[in-house]
Amino acid sequence: MNILNSPAPAAGGNGNHKNLEACSIVIFGASGDLTARKLIPALYHLFKDGLMPPTFRVIGFARREKTDASWRQELRTALDQFSRTKPVDDKVWAAFAENIFYCIGDLTDDAAYARLEKQLGTFGNPALRDNLLFYLAISPSQFGEVVEQVHRSNLLKRDGPGWQRLVVEKPFGHDLASAEKLNHELTRYAHESQVFRIDHYLGKETVQNILMFRFSNSIFERLWNRESVDHVQITVSEKIGVGDRGGYYEEAGALRDMVQNHMLQVLSLIAMEPPVSLEAEAVRDEKVKLLKSIRPLSLDDVAKQIVRGQYFAGSVGGEMRTGYRQETKVKPDSNVETFAALKLFIDNWRWSGVPFYLRTGKNLPMSASEVRIQFRPTPNVLFAAQCGSHLDANALTLRLQPNEGISLRFNGKVPGTTIGVRPVRMHFSYDAEFGAYTPEAYERLLLEAIAGDATLFIRRDEVETAWKIADSIRAGWEGRSLTNREFYSAGTWGPIAADDLLAQLGHTWHEPLVIK
Ligand SMILES: NC(=O)c1ccc[n+]([C@@H]2O[C@H](COP(=O)([O-])OP(=O)(O)OC[C@H]3O[C@@H](n4cnc5c(N)ncnc54)[C@H](OP(=O)(O)O)[C@@H]3O)[C@@H](O)[C@H]2O)c1
Repeated sequence: MNILNSPAPAAGGNGNHKNLEACSIVIFGASGDLTARKLIPALYHLFKDGLMPPTFRVIGFARREKTDASWRQELRTALDQFSRTKPVDDKVWAAFAENIFYCIGDLTDDAAYARLEKQLGTFGNPALRDNLLFYLAISPSQFGEVVEQVHRSNLLKRDGPGWQRLVVEKPFGHDLASAEKLNHELTRYAHESQVFRIDHYLGKETVQNILMFRFSNSIFERLWNRESVDHVQITVSEKIGVGDRGGYYEEAGALRDMVQNHMLQVLSLIAMEPPVSLEAEAVRDEKVKLLKSIRPLSLDDVAKQIVRGQYFAGSVGGEMRTGYRQETKVKPDSNVETFAALKLFIDNWRWSGVPFYLRTGKNLPMSASEVRIQFRPTPNVLFAAQCGSHLDANALTLRLQPNEGISLRFNGKVPGTTIGVRPVRMHFSYDAEFGAYTPEAYERLLLEAIAGDATLFIRRDEVETAWKIADSIRAGWEGRSLTNREFYSAGTWGPIAADDLLAQLGHTWHEPLVIK
């Protein structure tokens, strides 16, 4: 059973009807940003919606001096800021907060884990001691230490009693070798099935809906192949620049920050074969198969099929932005890419010859994520006189954020006595149809991790295959300085080279839709 075959949501609920076992959620990195901004608000909302297990505890682990009471108070203040529903419900919070505890300690200190183990024992319910979700909201360089320590403290076992799971955050390595090392550390004392790697994109309602849409609508399902699809465009654009994250971005760049994880995840859901069932392993098998079918990129291919870019100063929506090389903690001669565009081919039966274009970047004109399926045009015989070669081909756009929805573009006759043809659109908007229901991705992901359903998490071979692709691209960029054609003004859709990439096959980028 998993999220994709759960019953339809009740008003305000999210469609999960799982009998969740009592458990304790141990957050390593309890005093950090992720905990305050995402994890506690997500748990609070799950509790508020009646979706948490009937009995649970949350234990925060970090070095800073705090008591249960002071930590609860801090979290409450943070919740006022980060909760997606406001104001925070005092009664609900009070009931939720009774389950929250703090364990002070250093991740390298054996005695701290002994205290943690003891604390779990004091809850008086064996399930709260044995069913443990370890959320590693810490640096990946600390994963190995924590896994070893919780194992030594008898809190992490491969074969029970109860269940223990490790939830880990991106960045999941910075290349294949580092990802393999992390995977090795995580699975030294746990089965792969106990490791839940988060890509928060997979927690988004609309990303999950890709499979539902593809495999439950026969009119589209039969068109989803090389016979009907001309090409596919996946855009994840950000209006913001790197801001105060220059230090992080210098180590990451758009390829590691967006493409290796979120964009390849979306691509695999869009292009994968139907799984034999909606069970986690079946879905993940197909995603990995798809990633492995992406045509490998030689150094020469990278030069021809991959474009990188970096923004210089320019105006975004009327606001002046500084150039990347002038951002704080960025080297003045940095070659790090703030934009990437890829032309990928999937060498399998379904997609042979169909280009998949992916682009992402910072300081672009709008923040939007969408997938556009561009269908092949009809033969241009009947309307050539009126429309020339400009008769529009049909396109289906899956808008992932914001204003989630689906839009179909087709041709209609302009009313009147002449034959005029004009593309028109049919829009479906989630909000208009189902009402505003926007759970945070972390709510869904935490719930799935508590339930032990790994469908929405990234498996080891998936992450490693994605790194192989990213590494082959980096190898092509290695040691090459950016050229003039690779710079773009903040507020534009990337460098000219990105347009040239599509022009090779007579294609053009389509601006993300604004669905109202
Ligand atoms: N923040 C986000 O929105 C976000 C989003 C995606 C991924 N992530 C990833 O999630 C992880 C955590 O991010 P963050 O932003 O929350 O980081 P952060 O604000 O720097 O928090 C780090 C946490 O780790 C704890 N910590 C560090 N060293 C420790 C030690 N030796 N012993 C015990 N605790 C230790 C710190 O607690 P003390 O200082 O109290 O010890 C703090 O609670 C990172 O890997 C990050 O890349 C974060």
